[in-house]
Amino acid sequence: MNISKQEFARRRKNLMAQLEPDSIAIVPSARELTRNRDCDYPFRQDSDFFYLTGFSEPEAVLVLLPGRKHGQYVLFCRDRDPAMELWNGYRAGPEGACADFAADDAFPISDIDDILPGLIEGRERVYYAMGGHAEFDRKVMSWVNVIRSKVRSGAHPPGEFLDLNHLLHDLRLYKSAAEIRVMRKAAKISAAAHVRAMQFCKPGVNEYELEAEIRHEFASNGARDAAYSTIVGAGNNGCILHYIENCETVKDGDLVLIDAGCELQCYAADITRTFPANGKFSKEQKALYELVLKAQLAAIKIIKPGSHWNQAHDVTVKVITKGLVELGLLKGTVKKLIEAGAYKDFYMHRAGHWLGMDVHDVGDYKVGDEWRVLEEGMVLTVEPGIYVAPDNKKVAKKWRGIGIRIEDDVLVTKEGHDVLSDEVPKTVKEIEALMAKSNS
Ligand code: GLY
Ligand code: MN
Ligand code: MN
Repeated sequence: MNISKQEFARRRKNLMAQLEPDSIAIVPSARELTRNRDCDYPFRQDSDFFYLTGFSEPEAVLVLLPGRKHGQYVLFCRDRDPAMELWNGYRAGPEGACADFAADDAFPISDIDDILPGLIEGRERVYYAMGGHAEFDRKVMSWVNVIRSKVRSGAHPPGEFLDLNHLLHDLRLYKSAAEIRVMRKAAKISAAAHVRAMQFCKPGVNEYELEAEIRHEFASNGARDAAYSTIVGAGNNGCILHYIENCETVKDGDLVLIDAGCELQCYAADITRTFPANGKFSKEQKALYELVLKAQLAAIKIIKPGSHWNQAHDVTVKVITKGLVELGLLKGTVKKLIEAGAYKDFYMHRAGHWLGMDVHDVGDYKVGDEWRVLEEGMVLTVEPGIYVAPDNKKVAKKWRGIGIRIEDDVLVTKEGHDVLSDEVPKTVKEIEALMAKSNS
C-alpha cells in the first residue's frame, strides 16, 4: 500500500516538466522543534518534501535540476554517524539517499553551503517556497550572494526567483490511484475509531478517555499518528470549533462532538461525528442534528466534476438558514438572513477544505476570480455545523450549548463522488441503535 518509488519519481518528473527552462528548484525538509528541555515534538516530514522524495529525515534539502547531465535529483542529508545513530536512530546518509531513495547525487548537509551555489550558478531561475520560512529565505539569498560576489570572475547568478508552491500544490491537489488507496484506508481506520468511541461512551467518562480509544484504534491499525489534534468536546465544549483540551467529564444529557482522523503514510483523514453521551438524542438535539445532516447530505449530493468549489458551501448555508428559521432560532426571511450573514452566529466556518497530505490540504480554491471547478481525483471534506453559544440570549434556553458538526471525506470521481468515510453511522436512528447495542 506504500507509495512506490516509481510514483515518487513520476512526481519529480511532472514537477520538472512544468518548470521554466534553465531553472533549479529547492525544497527543504521540516525542522525538528523543541517541546521543552531536551525533548522534541514528534518529527513530521514537510508534506512538499515528502511528496517529492519519500525521505523522512530532518536536516535535508532536495534540489531538482531539470536537464542536468550528472543527475537531476540531488539530495542533501545528514551523514551517517554511529554515535548519533546509537542515541537517535538510523540515518540513510548520502549513500542511502542514492541507494534507497533514488537520488542521482547526494551530499552531506554540512557541505551544502559549499556545493549548492555551484549548482545554482548558471541557472536563470530559482524556484522555492518564497516567504514560507524566513531562515530558509535567508539561506537561499546567501547561496545566491556567493555567486553574485564572483560576477567579476565570470560567475552567472540567477535573474529570477519564482514561487514553487503554486506548481507543486496543484500537482498535490489531484490524487493518484495509489494516494486514493492510502486515503481510503486512513478514512476506514478513522471511521472504526469513531464507532469505537461511540460504543465506549457513557456519562462519567472523561473526554480524554474517548481520545484514548480513538488513538488506540488508529495505532492498532497501523496509523500511529493523528493527522491533527483530536477534538473531543462534550456539552458546551462542542461549541468551541477546535477544542483540544479534552479534559472534562462527559455528563448525562451532553452531546459529544468528536473530530478525529488518523494519518497514514503522511495522508490524512478528517471525520467528525456528534452523538448523545447517554445514547439518546433529546428533542432539541435531534432537531438541530437532523438539520446539520440535511445540509451535509445536500452538499455531498452536488459534489461532482463540473460543480464549483463554493456550491457545497452555498447549499449548506441555504439549508441551515431555512431550518433555523423553521425552528425559531432565526427570525426573518431566508433570503434576507443569508444576505445579512445571520447564519454566522450559528455556522461560522466554511463547509470544507481540500484534504490530502495535510489535513487542510494545499491547492487553490479560486482560479483567477472564479471558484475552482471540481475534477476527478480531488478530495475534500464536507463539514457543516451548528453551534449555539451557551450564552446566546437571542434564542430560547433549550437550544443553548448545543454544538454539532458532521464531517466526511469525499473523493470526486468521474461519475460524481465517493464518500471515503461512510463507515460511521450518521443518522439519528443508526447512532442510537449502535449505542443501544453497546450499552445493553
Ligand atoms: N479538524 C479540522 C477540520 O475539520 O478542519
Ligand atoms: Mn475538516
Ligand atoms: Mn475535522
